[in-house]
Amino acid sequence: MAKTKLLIVDDNEDICTQMKWALRNDYEPFTAVDRASALAAFTEHRPTVTLLDLGLPPRPNEPTEGLAALSAVLALDPLAKVIVISGQGEKQNAVRAVGAGAYDFLCKPIDMDELRLVLQRCVYLAELEQEYRALEQSMQADTFEDMVGASPNMQAVFELIRKVAPTGAPVLILGESGTGKEMVALALRRLSAEKGGPFVAINCNTIPENLLESELFGHEKGAFTGAHMQRKGHIETAAGGTLFLDEIGELPAQVQVKLLRFLQEKCFQRVGGRQEIHSDARIVAATNRNLEESVASGKFREDLYFRLAVVVLKLPPLRERGDDIILLAKAFLYNYGVEHAKPGLTFAPDALRALTLHSWPGNIRELQNRVRRAVIMADGNRVSARDLELTDTLSALPPQTLKDARESVERQMVQDALRRHCGKITAAALELGVSRPTLYELMEKLGIARDS
Ligand SMILES: Nc1ncnc2c1ncn2[C@@H]1O[C@H](COP(=O)(O)OP(=O)(O)OP(=O)(O)O)[C@@H](O)[C@H]1O
Ligand SMILES: [Mg+2]
Repeated sequence: MAKTKLLIVDDNEDICTQMKWALRNDYEPFTAVDRASALAAFTEHRPTVTLLDLGLPPRPNEPTEGLAALSAVLALDPLAKVIVISGQGEKQNAVRAVGAGAYDFLCKPIDMDELRLVLQRCVYLAELEQEYRALEQSMQADTFEDMVGASPNMQAVFELIRKVAPTGAPVLILGESGTGKEMVALALRRLSAEKGGPFVAINCNTIPENLLESELFGHEKGAFTGAHMQRKGHIETAAGGTLFLDEIGELPAQVQVKLLRFLQEKCFQRVGGRQEIHSDARIVAATNRNLEESVASGKFREDLYFRLAVVVLKLPPLRERGDDIILLAKAFLYNYGVEHAKPGLTFAPDALRALTLHSWPGNIRELQNRVRRAVIMADGNRVSARDLELTDTLSALPPQTLKDARESVERQMVQDALRRHCGKITAAALELGVSRPTLYELMEKLGIARDS
């Protein structure tokens, strides 16, 4: 594995050489002696960490050149990690540098053990930030209108949305509860020809049957007891936009007739009214039921079904989306981590296994809720299967002996630590909280090579 790149900037070439030698086992050092060469080296090598002496020529006794180099580096990369080194008795300059964005400072003469420790922490943080940057970038690549999905079946869904959105044709969205039907409806609206139009969503299951007709089509004054004045319905208010009819399977028979006529003629009458009213609202319907069965049993009109299902968009359940589960889980972990001031959380190996094995009856909403809860519950930086309340999923697997379980966790942690520290035993042992000899023993027991 490549060593971590380190840029050492000091006008004293002896110090440069000395540090280079002291750190060469763990890092790949480059050196520079003034601001110009420092910037050139930074641009060329993009070091993970820069050690920067503040007193540089032509004014080696003032911090100005060093501070200018610091801000130039940060302008090139706002997340660059710079550790400032200042002469004795110039601590206030170093503090100024930290105020200007340096990661940390050290005073001369340099204590090499202290430097190593500061470097180690700094590299760890830099790598974490890089991981997040990479995650964010891959998120963007795998995200369509706020929907995360890299699996082939979700990519096909995105492609279909892209195609049908601008046509204005009715769309029927099918999918289990929590698969993102409403998100799809919103995406259809955003990508439609009249982007700015209204989006009105109603759930046919939660509105009482006797009110649903007037909710949808409006009513005239005096149409029924309590109709004190004329009211517009959702089909009218959604004109120029989208009307999202959720749980369409629950639509009562007489409303089905009226909706069918609207889909055929774009015209309707308010309840208790005679006047023909026109609306160009696009109808997007959704259901988590098997609508074809309702048609077969006579509960849902077949002619209406065909009018609604001009385009059918099937949302696969989460368990059929492969690695999207992990992708989504990581995205939620990141977002909720930020929201709950717990950044830097990662999933433990058992959590990743449980996430993949769980059957997700509640789909993405369930995943969201589990991750949000886990973020709140997690102690430390690791989210476990227990934090996700998915230990049952794991215990349903063939039983493992305690020894097997212990060894598999040990193996995972040792390998992770070694990878993070490029095979450096001292650093990995430090992170794992064991002595170097213990780590060597563990590696031998588990059959792990240093560069594995
Ligand atoms: N692909 C996705 N990427 C990110 N978040 C998603 C995705 N799909 C759904 N969600 C989120 O999951 C939750 C459920 O989505 P939504 O409400 O659209 O599902 P639904 O199918 O309408 O559910 P229900 O059948 O229960 O009404 C929402 O919080 C939504 O933001
Ligand atoms: Mg919904």
